[in-house]
Amino acid sequence: MCGGDDKLDYRSAWETEEAPLDVSADPAGGSVTGGSVTDGTTTQPAVIGKSIFDYADDLAVQVPTSCFRNGICHECIVEIQQGMEGLAPRTKPESFLRENYRLACQARVIDPNVDVAFAPLRRTPKILTVTEEKETALDPVVTRRGDDIFYDGEQVDQFRGHVYGLAIDLGTTTVVMDFVDLETGKSVHVCSFENPQRFGGSDVMHRISYDGAFEDELWNAIINAVNHEIMDWCERTGTVRQEIYEIVVAGNATMRDLFFRLDVQSIGQKPYKSQIENEYLAGERETTALTIGTRRLGLRANPKARVYGMPLIASHVGGDVAADLATVELAAQPGVSMLVDVGTNTEVVVAGNGRMITASCPAGPAFEGGGIQYGMPGYEGAIDSLKWDGEDGRFAWSTIGDTAPQGICGSG
Ligand code: FES
Repeated sequence: MCGGDDKLDYRSAWETEEAPLDVSADPAGGSVTGGSVTDGTTTQPAVIGKSIFDYADDLAVQVPTSCFRNGICHECIVEIQQGMEGLAPRTKPESFLRENYRLACQARVIDPNVDVAFAPLRRTPKILTVTEEKETALDPVVTRRGDDIFYDGEQVDQFRGHVYGLAIDLGTTTVVMDFVDLETGKSVHVCSFENPQRFGGSDVMHRISYDGAFEDELWNAIINAVNHEIMDWCERTGTVRQEIYEIVVAGNATMRDLFFRLDVQSIGQKPYKSQIENEYLAGERETTALTIGTRRLGLRANPKARVYGMPLIASHVGGDVAADLATVELAAQPGVSMLVDVGTNTEVVVAGNGRMITASCPAGPAFEGGGIQYGMPGYEGAIDSLKWDGEDGRFAWSTIGDTAPQGICGSG
């Protein structure tokens, strides 16, 4: 668990000063001069009155929306990496955003002489997809008998053709979703995306602080992103979302509880315990695991499906470590063993002599480029190799996705 001064309370970490915008031009018009707007790959001339969403269309950059660009859904958040001063001031629908984040549908060019660079929040990461699979006996909570589907013994549906479950690894920076056929235990589709809560800060403490000021914005962002991936997979494969009967979520305490729409403020101050852990320690609940209907979280699955949140270990050591321990069976290893779950929030567990000791601390700057000017996680555009070519007298480099370089990959 993160140690620290008794007086440390990170909940106000979000309270940073907003950079003043020097704006005076009339957004109406349409004149073109020397500035430009780019997504880092392609560039277009800056035109007064044109929105970042218009540019995203022109540049074939995917920006999510479900409100016809009216500033209501809050899904179209983009990061303005350069040229905030060339855009009109924030509008009322953007009052929940700070620093260099804007709604693409609201941010319009007002100074055509400024170069603007933007990036959507759901960049595609490069994740490890080749894994070692071990034989596991199947014992799913969802079962089929003939044409009837049961959840924990209760009939919930008629067989529609498949019985799917969805496992979500909910990282602070990266989210991975694994669609699993619960009858065979085989993974049928894996996808990953950048956690769209980045506008609330890049680490858990800033997210906690942000959530205290703007309730539900982070929850909305992650639920919309998960739903988007579910519907995308369903459309591409002809699957109906009602065939998903169970969703399991593993994440650190903050990520998990934000997903379950719980108050996370107590995790941000010593002794860094979640509301659920406090209830567990007070004897008010039997486990720190959570189970809730998908409908209560607005998830697009079978209406009788349930979401299971892996149990927390303690403080910031959450359900992701519980999943790690179950997977590698650390307690059953001979001698002394150590498990390290490297991420924006890194956890370490040492096991031996019938005991396990765990600790966690932020590692984002070391592995994901956080807090480093040209550092970035392993997303498209991250430089992942750099070699000095002595003969040519220059560097040779490659980037993830073979796109234009955006920064240096923190994890190598
Ligand atoms: S598209 Fe919905 S808020 Fe911008």
